[in-house]
Amino acid sequence: MRLAAAFGLFTDIRCAIGIALWPTILAVWRSPSLLFRPQALSHLFMSYVWDVFGNGVDENGRDTKQVLITPHAYGVVLDLGAGHGHTVNYLDHARVTKYVAIEPNVHMHAKLRRVASAAGYSEDAGTLLILTCGAEDISTILSSLPAPHPPVDTLISILTICSIPAPQATICALITETLKPGGQVLFYEHVLSDREDVAWWQRFWAPIWSIAFGGCRMDRPAHRWIEDVGGWVKDEGGVWGKEGESDESLFWHRVGRFVKAG
Ligand SMILES: C[S@@+](CC[C@H](N)C(=O)[O-])C[C@H]1O[C@@H](n2cnc3c(N)ncnc32)[C@H](O)[C@@H]1O
Repeated sequence: MRLAAAFGLFTDIRCAIGIALWPTILAVWRSPSLLFRPQALSHLFMSYVWDVFGNGVDENGRDTKQVLITPHAYGVVLDLGAGHGHTVNYLDHARVTKYVAIEPNVHMHAKLRRVASAAGYSEDAGTLLILTCGAEDISTILSSLPAPHPPVDTLISILTICSIPAPQATICALITETLKPGGQVLFYEHVLSDREDVAWWQRFWAPIWSIAFGGCRMDRPAHRWIEDVGGWVKDEGGVWGKEGESDESLFWHRVGRFVKAG
């Protein structure tokens, strides 16, 4: 692997610090107790980072998401780690009846609500639900959604499995307990590379990267974990790559669609 590719992430880390450090220091100045609440501090820092990075990352994945989400998402959509609501813009309003956004970072909720509303989903109309719990909090997700159970037609994860705790158990529980038979999982994730040399660097950088990016781990084979849950309809969907992406990338993406057998 070229050293330039192995060390390329420093530009992003420098940029993230440049964007978020000063506003975070100001917030700590105003509310010093933040220093004793590392989770709240990390959420705040990440909300500033994603305010800028989110748009570029969305632009970069637009073609992929248009193919993955727009023609397939339908019914009740559960969006894991909705962030600032970039995914809602890919939903076909004629086919998606309710947008349920899981977003534990409350600093992202105002923008998420605005973006969802501009796309035609609102809490007033009962077509938008924002949950502050994490994706791993299955009981809160289930108790927030009306019958029938399981309630979800389309489970979407865009660049989120990298950040959730106990990801394998969480993915399995979400698919087993929240997704209807016949429902589908749509995902677009940066994952652990198939190339040993790239994977080595991903494992090396993962702890450092996760500090600057809200716990995001770059060393997770999320696509395999989803496929391994099993019980998928044969010959429907599958896993594919992002067009034009180098296999030397530390942020190597896999895209996938799986349909749960009835
Ligand atoms: C890299 S951002 C992606 C946001 C959005 N999906 C997008 O494509 O712009 C990851 C998101 O996952 C959220 N997140 C972190 N921990 C989570 C958890 N336990 N459950 C659900 N989402 C989580 C973060 O707050 C953040 O908004």
